[in-house]
Amino acid sequence: MKVIDVALPKGRLGEKVYDLFEASGYECPSIKEDNRKLIFENKDLGLRFFWVKPSDVAIYVERGAADIGVCGKDILLEYDPDVYELLDLKIGKCRMAVAAKDGFKDDSDVPLRVATKFSKITEDFYSKKCREIDIIHLNGSIEIAPILNLSDVIVDIVETGKTLYENNLKPIETIMPISARLISNKASYQFKNEIIEDIKEKLSLQVKNL
Ligand code: PRP
Repeated sequence: MKVIDVALPKGRLGEKVYDLFEASGYECPSIKEDNRKLIFENKDLGLRFFWVKPSDVAIYVERGAADIGVCGKDILLEYDPDVYELLDLKIGKCRMAVAAKDGFKDDSDVPLRVATKFSKITEDFYSKKCREIDIIHLNGSIEIAPILNLSDVIVDIVETGKTLYENNLKPIETIMPISARLISNKASYQFKNEIIEDIKEKLSLQVKNL
């Protein structure tokens, strides 16, 4: 039997994603054990799950270390990995947004200073608006940048808005909605097509019932 390797995003979203797999008949009970293991196998089903950092899922899938995986649309747009996007799982819903301090006024005479982890999405968004920007690429705690006057605005993921609110920032523009996507390695999709299509079909039935 061909084994299917599945990269799941570690964290809250990953747990929801695993539940969808389980409800679709692709279960691996050992994953629910309370330990720090990262790889779990169901030999009977020929299935192996592993937890990876959410932003790394596409790397594992692109390079074939995983056959399929689940990652946010933000990662697909930002890194443009060479994978197939098979299904919108309609979970992990949030949006990419521009946020600023209360009372922020854009001065179009000078480049807008934008702090973000998502440089490509940011560049694409502002270039369509013909707005000149100065990108400040950060790796985390983006919300601090406008407070310390490192940037005028930020581009980041907003889910509940709590992080912005607690740091005295407000969303001023939505760039795009984001949700979790099932992705496949291109060669795996060819050589393990039957099983990958079966997983996709069963997951899509679960998604319809959400
Ligand atoms: C994202 C984002 C915000 C937060 C927004 O970070 O960068 O900090 O979530 O969520 P909220 O609107 O519900 O407050 P994430 O938790 O993905 O962690 P990361 O910064 O390590 O990517």
